[in-house]
Amino acid sequence: MQILDVSLQSESEINQTTSKKPYLVRVSGNRIQLEYLKNKRKPFVPMISPGFQAKGGDPLLRAIGIKQGTVIDMTAGWCVDASRIACSGCNIIAFENNPLVYVLTQNAIEHCQSPLIKQRLDLRHADSIQALQSNAIDADVIYMDPMFPSYKRDAASPKPITLLRDLVDHTQDMHSFDRMFELAMNSNVRRVIIKRPHHQPAIERGKVGEIKSKQIRYDLYYPRQ
Ligand SMILES: C[S@@+](CC[C@H](N)C(=O)[O-])C[C@H]1O[C@@H](n2cnc3c(N)ncnc32)[C@H](O)[C@@H]1O
Repeated sequence: MQILDVSLQSESEINQTTSKKPYLVRVSGNRIQLEYLKNKRKPFVPMISPGFQAKGGDPLLRAIGIKQGTVIDMTAGWCVDASRIACSGCNIIAFENNPLVYVLTQNAIEHCQSPLIKQRLDLRHADSIQALQSNAIDADVIYMDPMFPSYKRDAASPKPITLLRDLVDHTQDMHSFDRMFELAMNSNVRRVIIKRPHHQPAIERGKVGEIKSKQIRYDLYYPRQ
């Protein structure tokens, strides 16, 4: 638990009623899960599903536009998108700066049944802005899915995105997004993709196209043009 900067406590040491934290991170064998202390929601165990196999018409994969090569995901989260990209044939380096999200997602990757995902998805605990500034990473595509303040909350359902909103400071996220975009547009990759909900306006500067699905839009950019 070094990354989280916490010490392990046994079951008997945990005082769930007086804890000020809303969550408990439970390590059971080699599985890590998040339990809610303030309500009776089911524990959250992130899953990386090999069920997300590449389908010809998958809008995310159409936006990525390559079937082999390297993709950088600057905003890994639960790696739902990154694992779809890995299954399509690309190698993917995914950066996550939130230590708890990283630990849970890394654990999910270790337990995932797909050898493809294990081979091709390289999740790193790092700030993607710093990583791109300090290393010349050779990649073909940069992908980002920043957290927008308007993602809907649904108190009844502990959907992964709702939980991410609780765990991640999205105001900071929005601030770093401008820098992410600037770095990506000054990189040597062939294309940059930004995922957005339909109601979020795109950055028009440099935009060359978009691919839409029911709720999501992928905005396409060619850097250095
Ligand atoms: C909307 S979520 C991404 C969800 C992801 N696409 C998925 O499939 O699960 C955005 C994530 O980006 C992470 N993030 C934001 N800024 C970052 C940065 N500078 N470096 C690395 N991760 C960052 C947040 O902690 C959050 O987990």
